[in-house]
Amino acid sequence: MIRFIETADEKRRIAREILESLTDWFEVEESREKYIADSAGQPFWASVDEGINEGFLCLKETGKETMELAVMGVRKECHRKGIGRRLFAAAKDYAARKGYEFIQVKTVRSGVYEDYDITNEFYKSLGFKELEVLPDYWDEANPCQIYVMSLKSTVNTIEARHSYRGTYLQENVPEEDLITIAGAGINAPSGCNKQTTDVIIVNDPEILARVKAQIDPPVAGTAPAMIIVLSKRINAYRDRCFAVQDYSAAIENMLLAIVELGYQSCWYEGHITDDDRICDKIASVLNVPKEYDVVCILPVGKAADEVHSPSKKPFSERVRFNRWS
Ligand SMILES: Cc1cc2nc3c(=O)[nH]c(=O)nc-3n(C[C@H](O)[C@H](O)[C@H](O)COP(=O)(O)O)c2cc1C
Repeated sequence: MIRFIETADEKRRIAREILESLTDWFEVEESREKYIADSAGQPFWASVDEGINEGFLCLKETGKETMELAVMGVRKECHRKGIGRRLFAAAKDYAARKGYEFIQVKTVRSGVYEDYDITNEFYKSLGFKELEVLPDYWDEANPCQIYVMSLKSTVNTIEARHSYRGTYLQENVPEEDLITIAGAGINAPSGCNKQTTDVIIVNDPEILARVKAQIDPPVAGTAPAMIIVLSKRINAYRDRCFAVQDYSAAIENMLLAIVELGYQSCWYEGHITDDDRICDKIASVLNVPKEYDVVCILPVGKAADEVHSPSKKPFSERVRFNRWS
C-alpha cells in the first residue's frame, strides 16, 4: 500500500530506516543525513506492507512549473516488485493535480557508473526523457544528467484521472476553461460523424443550485460548475444507433481535459439515470428539448480532499499480445 506521509517525524524515521538499509549506496553519512533532513519538509510517500516500510519517495518543488524527484529508496529485498513504480505513480498524480507541468530528476550520465545506468533505464521506463547534461554539477568526470517528464502528456493525464467524489473548493472555474472542456467533448469521434452529443455548461450559481436540488441523494453538492451531457438517440446508418458510444467518447475527452486543467470530476451516469430519473428533472430545469436525453453530469472544480485511485486488476489479467493464451 502506498501511503502519503504527513508528519516530519514519520518522514525522517522512514527515510532513515530505508536509507540505512542501503548502506552500499549511501556510504557517505553526510549525504545520507542531508537526504533525511531534506525529505522531512517535502511531499513524501511510503510503500508499506504488513507494517514493514519497503521504500519511500519524496518530491521537491524546483520552480513554479517543476517538481523534482528528490530522493527515492527501496529496500534491496523488495526490489523488482514494482514498488518504485507505484511510489512514482502516486507522486506523479500528486504533481499533476497540483498543476505542475514537469517532473525532473537529476542523475549521473549513463556510462559512468553501472548503478546509475540501471537507475537511468528505470527513469526512462517511467517515461522520463533525457534533457541535458550539466558538466559541472558534481565534477567534470561525473556529469549530471537531467531527465524530465511532461505531466501534460495525454498518457500521463489518462493515468492521473480518477473518479473524484470528495468536496470541491469554492473557487469559480474560469469560463475559458469550461469552454476548453466542452470543446474537448464535442471534438470526440462519433459514429458516421452524426455528432449526437451536446453539452450544457452550468456555471450560473442560481441555475446550478436548481440542478443540484434535483440530485437526491446529493452528489457533487459543492462543485462550482457542471457539464450536463445530452444525447440524441438517432441512427448513424440503417438501424445502427451509436449514440451511447458517441457520448462515452465525449465524456472521456472531457474528463481528461478537466484533469489536465487541474480540476477533478466524476462520471455520474448511474446515479441520475436510475428509476427515479433525476436526469429528466435536470432536463426540465434546463429546458432541454425532448429529442435529447440527459445522460450524465460531470462536476468541475478543484479538489479540497485527496484524490484516491481505485484498485484495478493487474495489467496482465486484461491485456494480451497476439492471442488469449
Ligand atoms: C457508464 C458509467 C456510469 C457511472 N456512473 C457513476 C455514478 O452514477 N456514480 C458514481 O459515483 N460513479 C459513476 N461512475 C464512475 C465509476 O464508478 C468509476 O469510473 C469506476 O469506479 C472506476 O474508477 P475510476 O474512474 O477512478 O477509474 C460511472 C462510470 C461509468 C463509465
